[in-house]
Amino acid sequence: MADQPIIKLRDGNMMPQLGLGVWQASQEEAHTAVLKALEVGYRSIDTAAAYKNEEAIGRALKDTPVARDDIFVTTKLWNDDQQNVQQAMETSLEKLQLDSVDLYLMHWPCPEKDHYVAAWEKMIELQQQGLTKSIGVCNFHEAHLKRLIDETGVTPVVNQIELHPMLQQRTLHAWNALHQIQTESWSPLAQGGEGVFDQAIIRTLAKKYGKSAAQIVIRWHLDSGLVVIPKSVTPARIEENFNVFDFRLEKSEISEITKLDKGQRLGPDPETFNG
Ligand SMILES: NC(=O)c1ccc[n+]([C@@H]2O[C@H](COP(=O)([O-])OP(=O)(O)OC[C@H]3O[C@@H](n4cnc5c(N)ncnc54)[C@H](OP(=O)(O)O)[C@@H]3O)[C@@H](O)[C@H]2O)c1
Repeated sequence: MADQPIIKLRDGNMMPQLGLGVWQASQEEAHTAVLKALEVGYRSIDTAAAYKNEEAIGRALKDTPVARDDIFVTTKLWNDDQQNVQQAMETSLEKLQLDSVDLYLMHWPCPEKDHYVAAWEKMIELQQQGLTKSIGVCNFHEAHLKRLIDETGVTPVVNQIELHPMLQQRTLHAWNALHQIQTESWSPLAQGGEGVFDQAIIRTLAKKYGKSAAQIVIRWHLDSGLVVIPKSVTPARIEENFNVFDFRLEKSEISEITKLDKGQRLGPDPETFNG
């Protein structure tokens, strides 16, 4: 692994703290972006069945000189497949041209459908079969997590949630930590919107450290103990987003960014999203 922070998950597996997200990247964009990311040192890739680019990730994993064992691959179970978990995993592995992934995440709880506990039981079986090294969830609130734990006895190792300076989810982050569930931030750059990059504190810190606004935001995730997966298909940005290991924010600076929280979601609310 490259010289970068690695997190030990509650099941003992190791996960790079910074990875590349590929949502909304076309097959071609995803292939190029993953090759570029691996070249500059990323060792974690976050895809999903729903992103429709798993084949491209698989091709990039074949095309890169980096060894498969040095790369942490995450994919996700789409909502329509919560009653078809085994088949969905096998389809993802076939597209990725892999025998196993490092992390398989349930994409959304879809509370109204109420299939997520049964789906979790199937994911536990996938892990026992060796098709995924670790299992976790996305977009789960405390009540959803509590049901998984109470009804199956198996705690997800990761909860990947929307998290950026405008939506910090501090209560859920603390609840995850209490249960040794690693919080992973999706849309960590608030989807690149000026709403975050233009904030005075972000601009001040960018100037102080000689870094871009995006690098300050990524550093804030890292210094807050979060796993972070910024997406970019732009080679210069892929490189820029990884160039964050030569500085650290001070505690008071982290606290200043904490004040930007507005509870402002960009994506759907997991309580009501059943798509
Ligand atoms: N589990 C879930 O439900 C869920 C939901 C959403 C996302 N995710 C995961 O989280 C990943 C990241 O979230 P996201 O894709 O929504 O948004 P994001 O990472 O917050 O932002 C991506 C956007 O920011 C731009 N960008 C990237 N680096 C930049 C930089 N240095 N300067 C300026 N702009 C920059 C990108 O543009 P270019 O690409 O054009 O460079 C893109 O438009 C996804 O790709 C996916 O893997 C998971």
